Amino acid sequence: MGKKIDGVPVLGGTDRARELRDVSFVVCVGNPRDPASRARLVGRLGLPERRYTTVVHPTALVSDTSSIGPGTVLLAHTVLTASVRVGRHVAVMPQTVLTHDDEIGDFATLASGVRIGGASRIGRGVYLGAGALVRENTAIGDWSLIGMGAVVLGNVPPGEVWVGNPATRLREAPPPSLEQLEADGEKPAEPADAPSGPAEASSDATEAGSEPAGARGERD
Ligand SMILES: CC(C)(COP(=O)(O)OP(=O)(O)OC[C@H]1O[C@@H](n2cnc3c(N)ncnc32)[C@H](O)[C@@H]1OP(=O)(O)O)[C@@H](O)C(=O)NCCC(=O)NCCS
Repeated sequence: MGKKIDGVPVLGGTDRARELRDVSFVVCVGNPRDPASRARLVGRLGLPERRYTTVVHPTALVSDTSSIGPGTVLLAHTVLTASVRVGRHVAVMPQTVLTHDDEIGDFATLASGVRIGGASRIGRGVYLGAGALVRENTAIGDWSLIGMGAVVLGNVPPGEVWVGNPATRLREAPPPSLEQLEADGEKPAEPADAPSGPAEASSDATEAGSEPAGARGERD
């Protein structure tokens, strides 16, 4: 508290989140060694869904027919073509392209330069490494991890790591399991009481206090 990170004042730690009643949040942590960290942090914060905002970088292109859930961040030059549905607490890094009828599950992380063909379903908590390509009509199971540069040609089961071109199974995905997440307090979604449409980037605070959303995610 009292210090600045990249010129932005820190209002406090996660313990202050409930006290900061006029502040909206996004949680932007995430890395391939611990893809569930965002879900755990959201669970630990225990804030109602209306306390989360949606942050869309001004250079992102989002079609009118697409929707974006609360707590989700779209970084620079992200493109959502027709009827893309992006869930809650999703982090989308720069230059990612999601095409018609794609569905992105809650807590997914899409690293920079990901391309997803139409009508694909990316499960809850999936991590798509930088530059990964996903063929149209493909399903990637919950909490699976796709390596950077992978070319995914068919469905991927839940909880697995796939790499390469064409992508094949490397190993099981890292813990924690869904059961552990629930034990950590990650709750099912409350009924949405926040608007779930595109929003302009704002000065909302992150879990660190008040760092503008996006700045932290860009470093992933
Ligand atoms: C897939 C990934 C998680 C695997 O990590 P890991 O389990 O530590 O794997 P290792 O580095 O030990 O490699 C294991 C094997 O997989 C191969 N491998 C790892 N990542 C690969 C990838 N992306 N594509 C192809 N092969 C890969 C390695 O060459 C190695 O092969 P070998 O056993 O024949 O030598 C990681 O390499 C990755 O791609 N992470 C995503 C990174 C990313 O996109 N970051 C974005 C940050 S913004």
